[in-house]
Amino acid sequence: MKSSKQKPQKFRKPKRIAVLTAGGDSPGLNAAIRGIGKTAISKGWTVIGFRDGFLGMLEDRWVELKKEDLAGILTVGGTVLGTSRLKPHRMETPNGSVDVRDKLVATYKRHKLDALVCIGGGGTHKNALKLAEKGLRILKLPKTIDNDVAHTDSTIGFATALEIATEAIDRLHSTAHSHHRIILAEIMGHRAGWLALGAGLAGGADVILIPEIPYDVNRIAAAIKRRVARGTKFSIVAVAEGARSIEDTQAYETAQRAGKSARGDAQKRVAKTVLDKLDAEHEDNIFRLARQLHSLTGLDSRVSILGYVQRGGTPSYRDRLLGTRLGTACVEMIDAGKSGIMVGSDGDRITATPIAKVAGNLKLVPRDHPLIRSARHLGTNLGD
Ligand code: F6P
Repeated sequence: MKSSKQKPQKFRKPKRIAVLTAGGDSPGLNAAIRGIGKTAISKGWTVIGFRDGFLGMLEDRWVELKKEDLAGILTVGGTVLGTSRLKPHRMETPNGSVDVRDKLVATYKRHKLDALVCIGGGGTHKNALKLAEKGLRILKLPKTIDNDVAHTDSTIGFATALEIATEAIDRLHSTAHSHHRIILAEIMGHRAGWLALGAGLAGGADVILIPEIPYDVNRIAAAIKRRVARGTKFSIVAVAEGARSIEDTQAYETAQRAGKSARGDAQKRVAKTVLDKLDAEHEDNIFRLARQLHSLTGLDSRVSILGYVQRGGTPSYRDRLLGTRLGTACVEMIDAGKSGIMVGSDGDRITATPIAKVAGNLKLVPRDHPLIRSARHLGTNLGD
């Protein structure tokens, strides 16, 4: 009988590895690059870094990372390698999308690489998996301030962004209080609400809206009016980028289903146009919500978009530690012959999960998550 277990692939002793960062930047990326680089160099390996994610690998733009290049970067925000959102299996061009994976394979071979470490979020998982299908030895580290990657308890950048967003809510409190206003703070997270939920709770927001819980504007207004009746004339509303009303969620899900069941190019184009239109309309979501809350409560309402401030600047000690732990462990795993895995964290433990299991598997906030339960106990309105 055939065993269902695949035989582990044998690799030669590593001599040269490469690293790249892809997708949106996040604080702690340089700690990971440093962890990978220093550990690999201490083993006598050569480490190169591709510039600007998969784009630099496509264009063969790279730099050797020597010990001196890794000094002084631990505390620096962003990524010293640069980043991009290029998808090698579907690179957008003016004439449609093209598959450039073979060119990346050629770059990998030309550099005689033994492994490629890709540091990125959800999109990078899919890209890495598609590239691994071409026979490359790839390992992944999870980063995104959204914290929406499955099989890791945290992603590089999340903790720092959480601190920044929490401080922003603290600061909005005093101005909202002074002017008796509703202030809506838009917090990043287009599919998952971890950041808005965490910062909202830590900052004591009165309303927290996340993509996982479609909201009813009347219920939000009623909660704010109850506060006014108790004598509190200001409210802070923490809104995740991807939070939608019940009606908008239904329209979006219907359009997504239509896209999935579309047959043929014409149908697919129509479905995409509808989704793009809904996405474009969503950009105005928080301003529309502010207008609705103003008219339903009579309170002056203002919007504050936290934006890229959440992703920039010095990483917190947590992200420095996470990047360092995952980066160093990743090199140990390459040395131990591992391939096709994402190196993640589970408390103090380091985990290794097949990239195929992580790709396309979004970590959303469960409706019974302890933080959701805490918010409900506190009387925080979650829009439902
Ligand atoms: O994926 C991380 C993230 O920070 C999201 O929260 C946000 O929607 C997105 O990146 C925006 O990134 P950019 O504007 O750089 O594409």
